[in-house]
Amino acid sequence: MKETIEKILTLAINAPSGDNSQPWRFEVKDNIIFVFNLPKSDNPILNINQRGSYIGHGGLLENISIAATKFQLQAQLELFPDERQKDLVAKVVLCDSHVETDALFPYLSQRHTNRRKYKNIKMTLEQTNALKQEIIKIGQENKVRLIFIDDDEKKKLIGRAMSSIEEIILQHKDLHALLFKDIIWSKKVFAKLKKGFYIGTMEFNLMQKFVFFLASNWQRAIWLNKLGLAKMVAKEDAKLYSSGAAVGAIIIPEDTQENFIFAGRAMERVWLKATALGLAFHPVSALCFARLRIVAGSGDVFDNAQTDKILSNYQVLHDLFNVGNNLIAMSFRIGFAPPVRAKALKSQPDVKFIN
Ligand SMILES: Cc1cc2nc3c(=O)[nH]c(=O)nc-3n(C[C@H](O)[C@H](O)[C@H](O)COP(=O)(O)O)c2cc1C
Repeated sequence: MKETIEKILTLAINAPSGDNSQPWRFEVKDNIIFVFNLPKSDNPILNINQRGSYIGHGGLLENISIAATKFQLQAQLELFPDERQKDLVAKVVLCDSHVETDALFPYLSQRHTNRRKYKNIKMTLEQTNALKQEIIKIGQENKVRLIFIDDDEKKKLIGRAMSSIEEIILQHKDLHALLFKDIIWSKKVFAKLKKGFYIGTMEFNLMQKFVFFLASNWQRAIWLNKLGLAKMVAKEDAKLYSSGAAVGAIIIPEDTQENFIFAGRAMERVWLKATALGLAFHPVSALCFARLRIVAGSGDVFDNAQTDKILSNYQVLHDLFNVGNNLIAMSFRIGFAPPVRAKALKSQPDVKFIN
């Protein structure tokens, strides 16, 4: 069992995570995996109440369940099983079973974020339905929904709203510092760390890379912003985010830690299925997390103008995705795109076997 669990976890940690923070570690006892969150891994401003990390954990848990089927094992998940251990996200019991290997298994190590410009080609109804079917498989139909918008005008409005947060990030001293703290500029350093946000995965051209480097210094960023940098970045990203087949949102009924795990599980199945269908996928979620921070009563980091801007732009998403009383756990774009030039690397799983 020990070797099998090592294999399962080595595949599972290919899950996405905010800024490639990989906020997990594992303890294993016999056939039980205890999955722990590392709460300091991700951006402390936008990862409000660990919600971003829990989406990553949802992806990780879904990957464990999928990988387990390859070894005729079924993963039984218990979320947040011990109130006293708040970093213990899940207890996963692996039971012998005659399950068939999950059809998404081959894509566990192929899934990745694609930040390139997407082609202006829509998905077919069959493709859209195949992606929506994946959500049903996690058995939480009343907890998670998936919505796509492929109307060009609406995509433009959503792209503009999604990118509005980037203007704020580049003008906000703390968010600016957190953004650049996680950037890894050298391929060699990234190969060693296998964690964090490698500049190559941002798919910048030479000019963009140079300007981004200049803006990494706060004093220079102030000057560049006076020349219009933050506004220009948001404008360019608006175009990028509305490029592609559709923009999408994963909707949950309310802000609970479990619902964010369900959202992550749903996101991972949709993303793996997208990979199987040859579709590129790019989470674009900072606006949703900034808004969550404000409504959770921790909006202290934003001034009034920034707060208004975040809330009004989230409202655009809320209205166009027709969210009603629910909330957007995360948003993304999906479509056909050229292959990425660099992929995020992942650290070996940190596993402690206990007797
Ligand atoms: C909760 C969550 C939020 C994310 N938000 C963004 C985002 O706003 N912009 C972005 O470019 N990537 C975003 N990502 C993608 C991560 O940066 C990416 O998963 C990570 O760098 C690892 O790369 P990979 O997906 O290729 O494995 C998000 C991922 C997760 C799980």
